Parts: sequence; C-alpha cells; structure tokens
Amino acid sequence: MTATTTRTALITGATAGIGAAFARALAAQGYSLVVVARDAERLAALASELAERHGVSVTPLPADLATDEGCALVEARLAEPLDLLVNNAGISLNQTFLKSTADDEARLLRLNVHAVMRLTLAVLPGMTERRHGGVINVSSVAGFATLMPGSTYPASKAWVTNFSESVAHSVRPYGVRVMALCPGYTRTEFHQRAGINMSKTPEWMWLSADDVVRDALRDLGRGKLVSVPDWKYKLAVFGLRHVPRRILQGVSRDVRGRIGRDV
Ligand SMILES: NC(=O)c1ccc[n+]([C@@H]2O[C@H](COP(=O)([O-])OP(=O)(O)OC[C@H]3O[C@@H](n4cnc5c(N)ncnc54)[C@H](OP(=O)(O)O)[C@@H]3O)[C@@H](O)[C@H]2O)c1
Repeated sequence: MTATTTRTALITGATAGIGAAFARALAAQGYSLVVVARDAERLAALASELAERHGVSVTPLPADLATDEGCALVEARLAEPLDLLVNNAGISLNQTFLKSTADDEARLLRLNVHAVMRLTLAVLPGMTERRHGGVINVSSVAGFATLMPGSTYPASKAWVTNFSESVAHSVRPYGVRVMALCPGYTRTEFHQRAGINMSKTPEWMWLSADDVVRDALRDLGRGKLVSVPDWKYKLAVFGLRHVPRRILQGVSRDVRGRIGRDV
C-alpha cells in the first residue's frame, strides 16, 4: 500500500455489517471508496455519510452480485486502477441441504463463490502489472469445518479460503497481496437476513465488525494469507485443522444443540 491520500478501495456488501465496518475504517484512513450492494438508497446514504465525515470521495455502485449483469457492472469498474478490493458480500440459507432448492443453493454459490472468483480475476491483472494492490476475500471460520448441519455455506467458504491462499502465492512475486478473512460469529444483519435464530449463542462468542476489520487490515499489512480475528477463533481453527474428524464430529453434535448454526 502507498501512503498517498489517493488510494482507492472497492467494497462489496458495504451497507451493513463487516462491509460497512471496512467502509468506515478505510474512509477514516483517507481511501476513496467505491461501495457495492443491491439497495441503491442505502448505498447513497452511506456514501454521503462517509464523504461528509471523512472528506473522501465515495461512489455508490448498486449491483446484484448473484447475477451476471451485476458482476459485469463491478468488473467494468475494476478495469480502472484500484488499491484494495474487499470481496465481502455473502449470504447463508436457513435450511439444510436436503430441504433446499437448486435455485437457493445456486444463488448462494453465485454470490459467495462465483462473484468472488470473477471480481478477483478482474482486478488482479492490473494489480500485478502495477506491482501494487491487495484483495481481501471475506470467508469464515465455518470454512474449516464440515460440521454445520448439511449446508452449502461452509463449503462455499472453504472454497474462498482455499482459493485466496492459492491465488495469494501466485501474485506475491508481483508485490500484490491476497488474504482470506475468516471471522467467527460477528454481530451484523447476516443471521437475521437468513432467518437464523441465534438466541442460544452465548454473548462471549460474538465479535464486533469493527474489531474484525481492525484485525483484518493489520493482518493484510503483515502479509498474512489467512486472517482469523480473535484468540478464541484462532484456537477453534487450530482445533479444526488438527483434531481428528471423528472427535470433532462428536463435539460438533453437542455444540450445535446449544448454539446457532452457520458462522
Ligand atoms: N456475521 C457473521 O457472523 C459472519 C461470520 C463469518 C463470516 N461472515 C461473512 O462476512 C461477510 C459479510 O457478512 P455480514 O455478516 O456483514 O452480512 P450482512 O450484515 O448481512 O451484510 C451483507 C451485505 O451484503 C450485501 N449483499 C447481500 N446480497 C448481495 C448481493 N446479491 N449482491 C450485492 N450485495 C449483496 C448487503 O446489501 P444489500 O442487501 O443491499 O445487497 C449488505 O451490504 C459474508 O461473506 C459472510 O459470509 C459473516
């Protein structure tokens, strides 16, 4: 990253939760922003609020990233120089795979996987040519587990983490950083939007979106390939990576009964 005030970041899913926290943090650092989400009114309100508070340029770009048209709109903007892309928009479904529909599963994969692939592919050639830039792909602790009740969500996030780490190695020689951000339960609109009841999830398990973003930006600066904010979730990921699956499955059945579902 350069230290000039003309740095530009594009954030998807910028109107709520983790995306909005990225928008606030980057605007406070002097970044010009391009903010993407479907709700044009909410985007415009965010843009004027951040522009007024931080004196930076904030451009709303309404797009549905679960569609080809929406991805193409954002890809067109990514052809121009950019310092940081945050692929953050993502959803979960409040249903197990057996009770799901192909349309719902395809919508999830189009947003959580396909859009991330397309936008990353659109931005990296310019970044590697300029030998400068970064991409943060928002994944999840859930991507380390096959333990949530049969759902495509953890599989989609496993893809995001694996993809990001793999691409990160290939662009590192050009001075470009790609990092997967893997938060645990974070207070946002995510679970409510999916209709997931989180009332049994203990308070200590929740992270704040601002803390997640602070850790993510620090880890990107340090050149990490995978960022897991908060020691509790670092420990959980260590366990998920190293404890035998047979033991994890027993633990998961027990934990699932007491807390929520997809992270
Ligand atoms: N919250 C958690 O516990 C948690 C934990 C781990 C990982 N994550 C990941 O963090 C990321 C952000 O989640 P969040 O919790 O901040 O969610 P959130 O509060 O529900 O915000 C979602 C954002 O994405 C936008 N969005 C949704 N569908 C979209 C689409 N089809 N096209 C474009 N934008 C779309 C929403 O705006 P519009 O509705 O206006 O489009 C909103 O700005 C996701 O990838 C999620 O999987 C969340």
